[in-house]
Amino acid sequence: MSIKILAIGDVFGRSGRNIVFHELGALKKELEADFMIVNFENASGGAGVSEPNAKELLNVGSVDVYTSGNHIWDKRDIINIIDKTDRIIRPANYPGDCPGRGYGIFETEKARIGVINLSGTVFMESLDNPFIAFDKIYENIHSSCDIICVDFHAEATSEKIAFGYHADGRANVVYGTHTHVQTADERILEGGCGYITDLGMTGPLDGVIGVDKQIIVKQFLTQRRIKFETACGASQLNGAIFTLDENFRCVNIERIRRIFD
Ligand SMILES: [Fe+2]
Ligand SMILES: [Fe+2]
Repeated sequence: MSIKILAIGDVFGRSGRNIVFHELGALKKELEADFMIVNFENASGGAGVSEPNAKELLNVGSVDVYTSGNHIWDKRDIINIIDKTDRIIRPANYPGDCPGRGYGIFETEKARIGVINLSGTVFMESLDNPFIAFDKIYENIHSSCDIICVDFHAEATSEKIAFGYHADGRANVVYGTHTHVQTADERILEGGCGYITDLGMTGPLDGVIGVDKQIIVKQFLTQRRIKFETACGASQLNGAIFTLDENFRCVNIERIRRIFD
């Protein structure tokens, strides 16, 4: 018996949402994935997830759980829904009392799958230490899980790589999100953890990590902030599929990258 976990990188704007609505169910079937985790922190206009968009996305049954990241609070009405579902997860290392949950345990036919979302702190907001946050969550949940997957949402490749080593032997799958560009460094670590530094994004192809390219070029030329708009045209889907064996060790990782005209 093997189990396949499909992880999809940051869903961005309408074009990303359309891929969730129209492509992910078929992709999950085609790849024979048992479980699908989708990062949707940029699903509404590229920043955050509005309550109506979250409701529509939760209706997509093929997505088992949505993870997020630093943009999760950008649309304030996410607060209205984040505590009403166990299928939305936000970074676990926000300090103090924080709406929503930072991890979840999902029962499937083949395994009990723990999904943890953490935010890095290098070149990002200074949240609680994500490495220590992982240690604490692991202590709480490992006896109730067969598999632990971590979406480590971070800017610095060094922080993500270091976290992979930190979690190896405890987490079975660790992947990075947030930079929106897929890295080609997928590998299986010594302790059996499947690892990739960034899944890449799901949304507009012909932009600057999702945003209209003219706006971003102009911003770099003028050094003045300009209101962002999502890019139009072709779209891309990026992610990775992790195959685990009967002992839940990762035995294969395949990067997924699809372009839609
Ligand atoms: Fe993102
Ligand atoms: Fe992010």
